[in-house]
Amino acid sequence: PSIWRAKVERTFIAIKPDGVQRGLSGEILQRFERRGFKLVGLKLIKVSEELAEKHYAEHRERPFFKGLVEFITSSPVVAAVIEGKGVVATARAMIGPTNPLNAPLGTIRGDYGIDIGRNIIHGSDSPESAEREIALWFTPEELLDWQATIAGWIY
Ligand code: TYD
Ligand code: MG
Repeated sequence: PSIWRAKVERTFIAIKPDGVQRGLSGEILQRFERRGFKLVGLKLIKVSEELAEKHYAEHRERPFFKGLVEFITSSPVVAAVIEGKGVVATARAMIGPTNPLNAPLGTIRGDYGIDIGRNIIHGSDSPESAEREIALWFTPEELLDWQATIAGWIY
């Protein structure tokens, strides 16, 4: 089967306030584009406390939760949905481990991160999380189902 007809997968990524403030948004999106993933949703958003709390609900009882919500709501975030075969796992691999100090060079966090609480970018950790997070951050109308008009090796 042609790769661009393969059953595709979607994931949610968010460039956090530190990534946006440091001017890394374009560079980071470029990595996913160059990897062959397809942008199907993209926006700059000032995150509400409600959205932040829902997004990070699994961490509600953790000591870093309050600071995490404060950080993510403090200044705009670039939210995106990208599509492609295996994109959930591959995007996580491209992002690197949660603590940038443990992140290999070549990963986004390994190249740019300085602190676990300022680790540049979020990526969904499983297809189920991706589905939940995409529905939380984007309306159906904001997700565009488009096809490249030139045939190629990408989606
Ligand atoms: P987590 O879901 O464990 O990491 P990831 O973003 O890699 O999926 O945690 C969510 C965010 O919470 C993480 O990106 C940064 C923050 N965090 C801390 O500030 N301190 C911590 O000890 C942990 C585990 C996370
Ligand atoms: Mg996580």
